[in-house]
Amino acid sequence: MSGLSRGAVERLGSPLATRVEVHEELRSTQERARELARAGAPHGTLVVSRIQTGGRGRLGRRWGSPPGGLWMSLVLRPGISTEVAARTTQSAAVGVAKALVELDVPARIKWPNDLLVDGRKVCGILAESSTQSVPVTAKRVGKGAGRPVDFVVLGVGLNANLDPEDLGVVGREVATLRSELGHDVDLTELLGAILSHLGAELGRIEDFGAILEDWRALNCTLGERVRVRRFGEMLEGIALDLGPEGELLLQTRGGVVELFEGEVEQLSRERT
Ligand code: BTN
Repeated sequence: MSGLSRGAVERLGSPLATRVEVHEELRSTQERARELARAGAPHGTLVVSRIQTGGRGRLGRRWGSPPGGLWMSLVLRPGISTEVAARTTQSAAVGVAKALVELDVPARIKWPNDLLVDGRKVCGILAESSTQSVPVTAKRVGKGAGRPVDFVVLGVGLNANLDPEDLGVVGREVATLRSELGHDVDLTELLGAILSHLGAELGRIEDFGAILEDWRALNCTLGERVRVRRFGEMLEGIALDLGPEGELLLQTRGGVVELFEGEVEQLSRERT
């Protein structure tokens, strides 16, 4: 693939790219990485594809993946509980945002983990975890609560060397690195920067307060009037702050609501 080859990726020497697959075309790097993880692939297995024919986004959406983007999924075996694994998406958003800012792309994080440039999405992140099975007699406190995570598949879809029109996204504004920078980037260098920042953020995931401080410094949601779609219901209010696990604290007419998931739409650019 143009600018990315298995050898070049391996030469990055990243602990997050110890076993590398680079494909010309795949349905989804996420599916391939999960297949490899289920078959025992180690931490740091990285799958990249030039094209995805069935790329998946959050909430079951399709993720258009023509040539020129950076479409990648990583197998992480963090040896942590489900609660800590849930921090992966926001930690990854901080890492990728830092890599983009270093490139002079002023990326900002929309809660929980979309990366936008001037309100247009440039990168999406999808983290899916699989917990270890526990004996049926074991007491369950909640869905997967306290159980060690077997693996997390972290997918990153970054609109890099392509034009926004190439993405075929109807009705939603998108940005690409090409549209922002006015030139293409070296995908191997970009991947190297992303892996390095991801490694740094994931390496301090137990110190989530510090990651959330950086998230706050890089976000474009807090202080905004937003509408949040969650499980089919709509909530409206001011995005006040994050709670200790990255949950969004939303000031609604009825009081402050804690949101652990949902799709945010920003309604205004007013600051409180
Ligand atoms: C989102 O909805 O914002 C998340 C998008 C994640 C897309 C990436 S592209 C690489 C990996 N493979 C997939 O099928 N999805 C993720």
